Amino acid sequence: MKAIFITLEGPDGSGKTSTINLLQEKMMQAGLDFIKTREPGGSPISEKVREVVLGIGNEIMDPKTEALLIAGARRQHVVETIRPALLNGQIVLCDRFIDSSLAYQGAGREIGIEAVLDINLFAVEETIPDVTYYLDVPAAVGLERIAANQKREVNRLDKENITFHQKVVQGYKQIIKMFPERFVCIQATRSPNEIADIILEDILKRIKD
Ligand SMILES: Nc1ncnc2c1ncn2[C@@H]1O[C@H](COP(=O)(O)OP(=O)(O)OP(=O)(O)O)[C@@H](O)[C@H]1O
Ligand SMILES: [Mg+2]
Repeated sequence: MKAIFITLEGPDGSGKTSTINLLQEKMMQAGLDFIKTREPGGSPISEKVREVVLGIGNEIMDPKTEALLIAGARRQHVVETIRPALLNGQIVLCDRFIDSSLAYQGAGREIGIEAVLDINLFAVEETIPDVTYYLDVPAAVGLERIAANQKREVNRLDKENITFHQKVVQGYKQIIKMFPERFVCIQATRSPNEIADIILEDILKRIKD
């Protein structure tokens, strides 16, 4: 079995967290050795940065500050959590990673995808995902799903308007064209259970050879 680094990406409400929770159960049943983690966060220090970045009340935060804080949290997550797991032979399953920065800060906040890529490559060095599953839904569909789910806590980025979220989706489309060998796009109008099955089947193929 190969230790591979897997990420899930997509706009708000595309179903990343719902899918990864189901996928986790299926991977356990399949007897795979893995860890599940998330961004921003994934290590104690990085979770503290998450609170600062996503916290309601920090609306004054400058876009480049936001990008640097997330890249800093990512560095710690890579060093403390992701690399040790991969070295230990485990599969790493991560809810959002570098592409979220490119899409949200690069495209959404208009810092530029290349500039955000630069600071993130400084942060992660060679720790780039082997495969990234992109959950493809229009921005409006994701936002409608979130609005319908009253239980979910609203964060600072969710509160951005539809135009911001449309820029994020356009950003993702550009990033997929930049790294076509790494991305697998899945129509996320399917149920999270069906999406998790598709991903599991693909993972099993990848770790076999
Ligand atoms: N494929 C789906 N079809 C219909 N509803 C879905 C689907 N996937 C998720 N949902 C619902 O949409 C809402 C958002 O899903 P979820 O939190 O998994 O998205 P997310 O991609 O993790 O969002 P965020 O980026 O904001 O964390 C939830 O209420 C969830 O039940
Ligand atoms: Mg989520």
